[in-house]
Amino acid sequence: MVVGKPLFVAEQIQQRVKELAGRISKDYEGKNLLVVGLLRGAFMFHADLVRSIRVPLSVDFIIAASYLKAESCGEVRVYYDIREDLTDKDVLLVEDIIDTGITLNHVRERILSRRPKSLKICVFLDKKERREVDIPLDYVGFEISKDFVVGYGLDYDDKFRNLPYIVVFKKSV
Ligand code: IMP
Ligand code: MG
Repeated sequence: MVVGKPLFVAEQIQQRVKELAGRISKDYEGKNLLVVGLLRGAFMFHADLVRSIRVPLSVDFIIAASYLKAESCGEVRVYYDIREDLTDKDVLLVEDIIDTGITLNHVRERILSRRPKSLKICVFLDKKERREVDIPLDYVGFEISKDFVVGYGLDYDDKFRNLPYIVVFKKSV
């Protein structure tokens, strides 16, 4: 069940997304930006972020998963991969949350093997204390504790993704 008050309400989320988009717009001036969303979790963050970025860009997606309910199973499966040629692209990989780092590490290596012009990573939430694989993060929305959270694209058992805020979830209290 959902526990307590939201960690981040919709206004806080939108404010932070705009700040990140502002920095990204500056950093990617004159570049060939491709914003890749890691689905399904990042769909909402990706959509909000690109809407606020003020430089030309294209979008694509990767569908990958390593999670079974609230447990990471450590294995990453890719169900859909980027269709664009990456050799002339400045790729910005967008993810909802980084936990152990296993998913992002796998996807990062996969993208790097296609030799993009550059690759940076943008995550909305960072559960730093849970990290098992170290990954360079270029843009981070918020650092959070290790509690399981839902909303703003994040799910438990594929539910709660539609909430416009982020809130802690516990299986039972
Ligand atoms: P990692 O591979 O352990 O870094 O896990 C990353 C993936 O786990 C994310 O893309 C999410 O799908 C999922 N995940 C990790 N923590 C949470 C959480 O608190 N709520 C919802 N999903 C989470
Ligand atoms: Mg995800």
